[in-house]
Amino acid sequence: MNETRRALLDALADGPIEGPALADRLDVSRAAVWKQVEALREAGFGIESGDDGYRVVEIPEYGAEAIAFGLEAPYRIEYHDQIGSTNDRARELAETGEADLVVVADEQTGSRGRLGREWIGPSGGVWASLLLRPERPPAEIPVYALAAAVAVARAAREAGAEAVIKWPNDVLLAGEEPTQRKLAGILTEMEGEADRVSWLVVGIGVNANVDAGALPDGATSLREATGDVDRRVFLQRLLETFHDLTGGDTDLHAILDEWRALAATLGQRVRVETPGETIVGEAIDVQFPGSLVVRTDDDERVVHTGDCEHLRPV
Ligand code: BTN
Repeated sequence: MNETRRALLDALADGPIEGPALADRLDVSRAAVWKQVEALREAGFGIESGDDGYRVVEIPEYGAEAIAFGLEAPYRIEYHDQIGSTNDRARELAETGEADLVVVADEQTGSRGRLGREWIGPSGGVWASLLLRPERPPAEIPVYALAAAVAVARAAREAGAEAVIKWPNDVLLAGEEPTQRKLAGILTEMEGEADRVSWLVVGIGVNANVDAGALPDGATSLREATGDVDRRVFLQRLLETFHDLTGGDTDLHAILDEWRALAATLGQRVRVETPGETIVGEAIDVQFPGSLVVRTDDDERVVHTGDCEHLRPV
């Protein structure tokens, strides 16, 4: 989507606006405004032109323009009806120098999960990958995944689902174990040097308007929990929260308290499979940039990465 289209969407989101004022605000001719308005109509927007100017009366269900309309976060949107993996596309765009862009798809045919696992991405999900170039050291990057989990959980709660977070960044639907099932997952990928991040891709997969039968065992969807959601609004809220937590020179340490408030893992007996060993104990806290503190029988351990399982209390 070009800059003028995005500026037009921002202007229309503020309320009715007359053609000449729009031309001024966008710094283009009135003919160019008309052309862009027509393009938005073709993209599914209902736009009336009355005495007070152009007014949006209908927004398409999903798509680049629909998500950008009224979005209070500085990201551009690239939308695909179908794609292999939004993370792969975001990585491709990283090589061309893009930034602050979100690749969104209705359906993924080759999506990837953590630790090289497959991820099922049928039509109806919220599949999105943010491409960012944060001016932060690589060591701080794990906290972006925690921020994404907070953003997903909050958007799910706003949609009426009682979402909680399992360390580090799985979003589950609350309930008595083992009924807690996975609603969303996050896959972050980055490239950089020891002290500088070149690019970061935060891939977010939310089983939104998807039949749970189409998903792997242990997974659930918003459709199953609350009924279908408005994916446009869901993704907007998610992106806005993510930007509030991570944008500009925000204090990234503040993410931890937001994460703690939504975490199902703290206070639980856990088994964490790390690359080198298995750690069993009580999860007692999270430490910047996202490590889990586990009290074992004889020690306190700080776990940086691994697969976490909630165990029944002994
Ligand atoms: C996990 O829990 O294993 C992480 C799953 C991440 C899936 C998302 S869907 C959007 C983005 N594109 C991908 O190929 N993967 C991530």
